[in-house]
Parts: sequence; C-alpha cells; structure tokens
Amino acid sequence: MTLTDNRTGESIEIPIVNGGVDAGAWKKLLGNIWFADPGFTQTAATESAITELDGEAGILRYRGYPIEQLAEHSTYLEVAYLLIYGELPDAEQYAAWKHEITYHTFIHENVRKRFMEGFHHDAHPMGMLVSAVAALSTFYPESKDIQDPDVRDKQIVRLIAKMPTLAAGAHRFSVGMPFVYPDNRLEFSDNFLSMMWKIAEPEYQADPVLAKALDVLFILHADHEQNCGTTAMRVAGSSHTDPYSATAAAAAALYGPRHGGANEAVIKMLNEIGHVDNVPAYVTAVKEGKGRLQGFGHRVYKNFDPRATIIKKIAYDVFEVTGKNPLLDIALKLEEVALADDYFISRKLYPNVDFYSGLIYQAMGFPIEMFTVLFAIPRTSGWLAHWKELLEQDQKIARPRQLYTGSASRDYVAMDAR
Ligand code: CMC
Repeated sequence: MTLTDNRTGESIEIPIVNGGVDAGAWKKLLGNIWFADPGFTQTAATESAITELDGEAGILRYRGYPIEQLAEHSTYLEVAYLLIYGELPDAEQYAAWKHEITYHTFIHENVRKRFMEGFHHDAHPMGMLVSAVAALSTFYPESKDIQDPDVRDKQIVRLIAKMPTLAAGAHRFSVGMPFVYPDNRLEFSDNFLSMMWKIAEPEYQADPVLAKALDVLFILHADHEQNCGTTAMRVAGSSHTDPYSATAAAAAALYGPRHGGANEAVIKMLNEIGHVDNVPAYVTAVKEGKGRLQGFGHRVYKNFDPRATIIKKIAYDVFEVTGKNPLLDIALKLEEVALADDYFISRKLYPNVDFYSGLIYQAMGFPIEMFTVLFAIPRTSGWLAHWKELLEQDQKIARPRQLYTGSASRDYVAMDAR
C-alpha cells in the first residue's frame, strides 16, 4: 500500500503482511494521527497462531484442525492441550495432561467455605465464578512469577481443572445443596456433571449421551480468537498481572449479554415469545428497532456460524434422552422466519452458537443462570492459550489512544459561582 499525506505530499509504502499492515510504518509518516476504531472492528490487536476464523466462509479451525473434525473425534481435554501447546498430544502426553488436570480439581476449603458461602443466597453463579477465580490468585501467590514457564504451566493446569469445581460449587450454593467434591475416577465432563447433580448415591453416573454432548459443547466453546473476553484476557495479561486475575477479567467480559450472556438471553426471549404463532409479530418488532433477536448475528460470521450447525445436531441427540425442549418449536420457527426475511438477509444475520446451546443446557436441567458459566469452563483453555502466547510474544502493554472531544482548557469555577 502507498500512503500519502496530502498535507505534505510525503509518501510511504507499507507491505501487507498476513493480511494486515503494520501500524508502526503508518506511525513513521503520521505520528500523531490515530486510527479511530471503537470496538476494534478493523484493528488486528496481535498476531496469533491459535485459532483461524474466516467469517465469510464459515470456517473455524483450532491450530489448523477444522472444528467439525475436533467435535467429532476429539475430547475437550485434548483440545485444551492442542490450543495451549500447539499440537495434538501423543498417548503419553495426553495421559500425563489428563492426570495433571484430574489431580488439580480440588479447591482450597477456604475458597468454598468462607468465600463462596459468603455470597447472598440468590447470587448469580457467574458473579460468584468471576470473584472466585480472582480470589484464587491470593491462594497461589507464586503465580505472579509469570516469566517462569513451569509456573505458568502449573497455573494453566490449576485453572482448567478448578473451573468446573468452582462452577458447580456456585450452582450448589445457589440451590442450597451441599458441595460435591471432585471424583478423580471420572472423565472431565462426567466429573462436572457429578459435582452438579450428585445427591446421595456413592458414584454419580452421568448419561453417556449427555456427558458426550457436554464435552462437544466444551470443544465448540474452547476458543474463538480475539473476541471480547479473550481481548480482556490479553489486555489484562499485557500488564503482567497473574493469570487468575487476568482470567477473572476475561470471565467478567464474557458475562455480558452481548457476549457469553446471550444464551441466557435466548431462553428469556423464547419464553417471552411464548408460542410459535407469536413469532412473526416478534420479528416485526425487532425490525422496528424494539430489541434484538438474541442468538442472532455475529461480528465475524457473515454467512453461518459453523458451531451453530454442529450444535443443532447435538440438540437432537440430547432431546432423544431428555425429551424435546418445548421452546424448540419456537426457536425453529424464529430461525425460519428470520432467515427468509430481507432485514436479516441483507444484514447477514444468522443463528450463532448461543441460539441452540441454551435449549440444550435447559433440556439437560441447567438453570439459565448457569449458561454463561458453562461457556466460561471451556473458554478458560482458550484464554490461557492466548495468555501464554502473549507472554511468549513479549507484547507491549495494551494502551490505545483516544480522540479527545471534550472541553478545551477552562478555569475552575468556585461552587457558589456555578
Ligand atoms: N437482531 C436484530 N438486528 C441485529 C442483530 C440482532 N441480533 N444483530 C445485529 N443487528 C443489526 C443491527 O441493528 C445493525 O442494523 P443497522 O445496520 O440497521 O443499524 C446491523 O445488524 C449490524 O449490527 P452491529 O451491532 O453493527 O453488529 P456488531 O457486529 O457490532 O454486533 C453482535 C454483533 C453479536 C453483538 C450483535 O449481532 C448482537 O447483539 N447479537 C445478539 C446478541 C448475541 O447473540 N450475542 C452472541 C454472539 S456469539 C457468542 C459470542 O461470541 O459471544
């Protein structure tokens, strides 16, 4: 690209590398002219080798492997390893990784008893999770030594392992049930389901179809390159804070209804619609600007969300076991009406990952407040993969510029003269 400053006639050539241009070259010519890009819609904040996403083609790949193949053949723990270390593990590496994760699932009793049980009885489990993850940094002060690769790896294991324990603990507290300790005999998803649902039985046996469906949902949610939560992770991580605090920042960003909170919003919307007959009127109201269709649209996917395609299939597997979610018919009608409507076609708005995931979670018995928590469990591995990559890249602290639009300099006015 050739860039010319029309004020001076000076030019500079900037090569396009990996689909982007280096802002450093721009800086040489136009030092004090900033890119105005709120929401980073046109800004690559980093180079990354973790996840490839082509929104126009509906492509999602982790470390080069298509999401469809991983969802069909892999497990969440294997995918977490792949995201973090860049390659699929061999049998020995996988066994060691699984052992490490399994044996770090317990949380300090003070986190559970004094911290988590200190919340108000109706605390939102996502609020509890965000706070509990941040609190973990005080239990592992060595985690501040982020330049030591062994220390980093240890915190990565701890975070991936403890997230389900914290998540299930938040749920148990919110429904007044006693905490269930992790069971090291169980697989990752089975163990989480045991901590969620176990009552008095000596060993909780999760339905294999449901445990598998949850594991696939974890794979689909594990990473999604520079989304809002991951950006929060990278921004916080760039200040060299410890990984628990950075993960809490990422989880806080995920909490919002425009991001990981959307699956909760979808169920509320479907309940509000109430009946298939009300779908056309609801869509008309959305088109008139009265709210958005939850679970529709995506900043990057402008054709289809490949995760949504996989999830729709899983939904039917789950409903075989649990019975059909009564909201499914409304969701299908909504999808049909919206996909045939010019408002949604022209804006390239398609169902995203959250449109069907909430229906599955609800059919599996999860309360809607747990939906974003279910997103945070697997996304933790993606956040940590980006955190590790950021530190290995030795990136500068995140510190954007602004275009100041406030008052010019003015003198202080005493209160009685205002
Ligand atoms: N329903 C109705 N209209 C919509 C929707 C929607 N869900 N999403 C976007 N639009 C319209 C929007 O009003 C705008 O129209 P116009 O050009 O006439 O002003 C146009 O489409 C472009 O919207 P935008 O807000 O500029 O798009 P964005 O890229 O900033 O927003 C989004 C992306 C996901 C925040 C948005 O589509 C949205 O709010 N969707 C609903 C919430 C949701 O499902 N979020 C989950 C995202 S996937 C999971 C994740 O990664 O977290």
